[in-house]
Amino acid sequence: MATAARTLLHLDASARRRSFSREVGDAVAAAWRASHPDGTYVHRDLARTSVPPIDEAWTELCDYVLEHEITDIARYPEAVRTPAQAAAWAIVQPLLEELVAADTVLIATPMYNFSIPASLKAWIDQVTFPKMSLAGRRFVVAHARGGAYGPGTPRHPYDHQERYLRDFFAGHFAIPEEAMTFLGTELVNSRVDPALAARRETHDASRAAALAAARKIGEVL
Ligand SMILES: Cc1cc2nc3c(=O)[nH]c(=O)nc-3n(C[C@H](O)[C@H](O)[C@H](O)COP(=O)(O)O)c2cc1C
Repeated sequence: MATAARTLLHLDASARRRSFSREVGDAVAAAWRASHPDGTYVHRDLARTSVPPIDEAWTELCDYVLEHEITDIARYPEAVRTPAQAAAWAIVQPLLEELVAADTVLIATPMYNFSIPASLKAWIDQVTFPKMSLAGRRFVVAHARGGAYGPGTPRHPYDHQERYLRDFFAGHFAIPEEAMTFLGTELVNSRVDPALAARRETHDASRAAALAAARKIGEVL
């Protein structure tokens, strides 16, 4: 059992309640909560309570941070100079506070159109500022997709879901590879698409493996 009080931020992004990314994400969260009874658990469902896209005032905050070489997140409020910027900051602030306070960020996300849902992308756009490091945090992603996109599959080059998140966490947030975990459920469409029915066993196996890994990782985070 972990000794220090810890914080888990858990984001959901599936439009579905009967969701395979939610299932695996929930298993990670349940194991984490059992192992960290004194920890703080924060859940945000981006599909139910959507985050708006960034607006022009947000871009002004962003430009100010860049121009004034502000890398300390605590100094971002210095960028607020107009009522429109204050309104933009009022959206960012609670989201960013949750993110910065977390030492583990758990993201449960479907693949939509080779990528992540617009709801999750809107959250990323709101909370991400230039040269912002989140080093020291761990990222866990529970993802689901209708097809198979793993290494060696014909669709691997079209994986802009896991690939994008890995690249973004590493390239922008300075998260090393060893501080990221991806738990994927593949071939979900084999449950509904007759053309993929023969792949059902592969889907079942990937779902079972993701759930087993989720229960384990939740305990060791
Ligand atoms: C709008 C939409 C777009 C999708 N696009 C893709 C896709 O590009 N590739 C894919 O393999 N599956 C695609 N799917 C299937 C989902 O990835 C699959 O249903 C997955 O299980 C969704 O995650 P969830 O179970 O957590 O909701 C799409 C589904 C929806 C609803």
